[in-house]
Amino acid sequence: MLNDPVLVNDWHVVARVEEVQEGKTRAVRLLEEDLVLWRVGGKVCAWQDLCVHRGTRLSLGKVEHGTLACPYHGWVYNQEGQCIRYPAHPNQQPSERARARVYQARERYGWIWVCLGKATRDIPHFPQWEDASYRKVHCGPYTYKASAPRAIENFLDITHFPFVHQSYLGDPAHAEVNDYQVTTDEDGITASNITVWQPDPDGRGQGAYVSYTYRVYRPLTAGFVKSSAGPHFAMFFTITPVAPNLSHAWAYVAMDYSDLTESEIQGFQNLITMQDVPIVESQRPELLPLDLQAELHLRSDRTAIAYRKWLGQLGLSFGTA
Ligand code: FES
Ligand code: CO
Repeated sequence: MLNDPVLVNDWHVVARVEEVQEGKTRAVRLLEEDLVLWRVGGKVCAWQDLCVHRGTRLSLGKVEHGTLACPYHGWVYNQEGQCIRYPAHPNQQPSERARARVYQARERYGWIWVCLGKATRDIPHFPQWEDASYRKVHCGPYTYKASAPRAIENFLDITHFPFVHQSYLGDPAHAEVNDYQVTTDEDGITASNITVWQPDPDGRGQGAYVSYTYRVYRPLTAGFVKSSAGPHFAMFFTITPVAPNLSHAWAYVAMDYSDLTESEIQGFQNLITMQDVPIVESQRPELLPLDLQAELHLRSDRTAIAYRKWLGQLGLSFGTA
């Protein structure tokens, strides 16, 4: 279903860089399109996973000498996606129409990003990526049997912490949220200085008020920085819209403190996400309603209100209602 220009013309993560190795193919799915990823001379190719001869999956084929060969009748495609050989007719020049549909692919932040259309913007900027004072730990991917905008909205939602993440990120006895500010411009949404109480915000074993600033960079990419008395904890979070009700979340934690191991940090994020997933998967309607009259909103939901308004202005349709 490639009928959402906003998402078709945007970048989406489909794999980790190390998952696509020389000499091998990898099948992934984005916006209900099956893709084959493969590497030639260090460059990643992302094509429609379909041989134009009889519709076989190219991901079942062989990567050899910088070409991809279909598993069925052996048509050989070069790295531009053009078929260069029909094995049944070795002396026949393949037709110009014998070509795979080629999409744009880029590697950034250890991920492979694909755009199925014409990228209107660059891959979103992950502010802590080049900042050596932040240690980056990869988390996920996590699967949500839910729409991508529902999953992003959950990432932006702060008032669920005391309930869904009780004793980890909040406490029902301290559930109050301040009147924070939200602004929207052509670069996305900023929700600043959201103050909440947390039982142990930075691993020092003490409850404290912390301040979150969220940024929504693209319809399906967001991040936050949380600061307490000194340390900073940030996240960069992007969702792959696989189908209207199926999403994959990819994340980095970035922190300028702590001696936790990578697997301890990932274990904590896995636990928090496993608390979120059943909640998000239970939400109805499954597609995020962009009509602001459709659900009830409080002042503390102003990030979600801004997000729904912005998606409506952009004309996003995939995963929304
Ligand atoms: Fe691919 Fe025939 S289906 S070569
Ligand atoms: Co949560």
